[in-house]
Amino acid sequence: MSLSLADRDRLDAFWRFCLDNQYFNIGYPESADFDYGYLQRFMQFSINNCGDWGAECNYLLNTFEFEKDVMQYFAGLFHIPFAQSWGYVTGGGTEGNMFACYLARELFPTGTLFYSRDTHYSVAKIVRLLRIKSCVVDALPGGEIDEDDLMRKIAAQQVRHPIVFANIGTTLRGAVDNIASIQQRLALAGISRQDYYLHADAALSGMILPFVERPQPFNFADGIDSIAVSGHKMIGTPHPCGVVLAKREHVERISVDVDYISAPDRTITGSRSGHAPLMLWAALRSRSFAEWQQRTRRCLNMAQYAVDRFREAGINAWRHENSITVVFPSPPPAVWKKHCVATSGNTAHLVATGHHRDSRRIDALIDDVIASAPVSGGSVT
Ligand SMILES: Cc1ncc(COP(=O)(O)O)c(C=O)c1O
Repeated sequence: MSLSLADRDRLDAFWRFCLDNQYFNIGYPESADFDYGYLQRFMQFSINNCGDWGAECNYLLNTFEFEKDVMQYFAGLFHIPFAQSWGYVTGGGTEGNMFACYLARELFPTGTLFYSRDTHYSVAKIVRLLRIKSCVVDALPGGEIDEDDLMRKIAAQQVRHPIVFANIGTTLRGAVDNIASIQQRLALAGISRQDYYLHADAALSGMILPFVERPQPFNFADGIDSIAVSGHKMIGTPHPCGVVLAKREHVERISVDVDYISAPDRTITGSRSGHAPLMLWAALRSRSFAEWQQRTRRCLNMAQYAVDRFREAGINAWRHENSITVVFPSPPPAVWKKHCVATSGNTAHLVATGHHRDSRRIDALIDDVIASAPVSGGSVT
C-alpha cells in the first residue's frame, strides 16, 4: 500500500493546516488539550467493540475491559450503583440520546416525548427516525424548558406516559432544565414515577457538573432514567465519541442475542469503535478527581473573564451558573466567520473549553466584537 507523491503532498498540506489551527475552537464545545500519543501504537490494530462489553465476544481484538472501566467511572460520577446500570461508549452525544429515546419508547410505546425549543437539532431527527410521538415545548429566554408550557401540553393532550427529554446544558445558552421541579410538577399532576421517563442530555455539562461545588440536579440520585454525554466535548478526543448510561432494567428490555457475534447486543450500531473506549479510559485515568475539579474551575473562570470583559465594554454578555458557555449578541458575519463562532438568530456564544489556557483567543474575539459593535448614546449594546 503506498500513496502517490501528489497524495502525500496533499496530506502534508492538511497536516500543516491542522497544526496551525489545532486550538482554533472557541465557538463549539470541543476541547483540544489532549495527548493520546501513548495510544498511537494501537492504530495498527483493527479493534472492534461490537455488542455488549459485558459479554464474551468472538471478535478477539476488543477493548471491552477498558470500556467496562469507563462505564464504572461514569456510574460513580452519575450516582448509580454500577450493577444497576448499563451503558456503553457511543459514537457521540447524538447516539446516546437516540439510545435513551429508544429505551423510553420501548418502555412506553404510546408515550409522547417532550423537548424544549432550545434542544439540540438532532433530537427532532431522532424522534422522526424512531417514530416517537413528540411535542415541542417553549423555552424561557435563558434557554430552560418552560415548565408551565410543558405541564399545559401534557394535560391538554392527556398524556399518560410523558417522556421528558431534559437539557443539562443547552447547546446555545448552556441552560439546565430543573429536573427536580419538573418531577415535582409531574407528581402534582398525578403522574406517578413509574409512568414517566426522564432523560438527561448532558452532552457538555455531564463532565462539568460532577466537578463543581453546587451542581444543579442532573444525575440518577436526582431522578433520571438515563444520561448521554459527548466524549469529544469536555474530555477531548481526536474524533467524536460519547457515553450513554441508563438504568439496567430499561436496557434489559432491548437486549437481543446475536449468533453471528456469539454475544448479546444492546447497542444501536453493529460495529463500534474499540479505540474510543481506550481513549476515554486513558483520559479519565490520567486526571484525579481533584484535577478534573481544577480544570473545570479554570474553564469556568475563563468563561467569567469573558463575561466581565464584554460587560466592561457595555456588551450584554452572560452565562448560566456552572456553565462555560458565554452568550452575547451576534456580531456581524465578518467577525463570527473569522473566529468560527456559532450563532443562532441574534445570539452568539463562545465556549471556554480546556485548551483556552490563556485568554489570547478569547481576547482576540472580544476585541473584534467590541470594535464591530454599534455605539449608541456613548455605550455599546
Ligand atoms: C445539548 C447537546 N446535545 C446533543 C449534542 C450532540 O452531540 P454530538 O455532537 O456529540 O453528537 C450537542 C452537540 O453540540 C449538544 O450541545
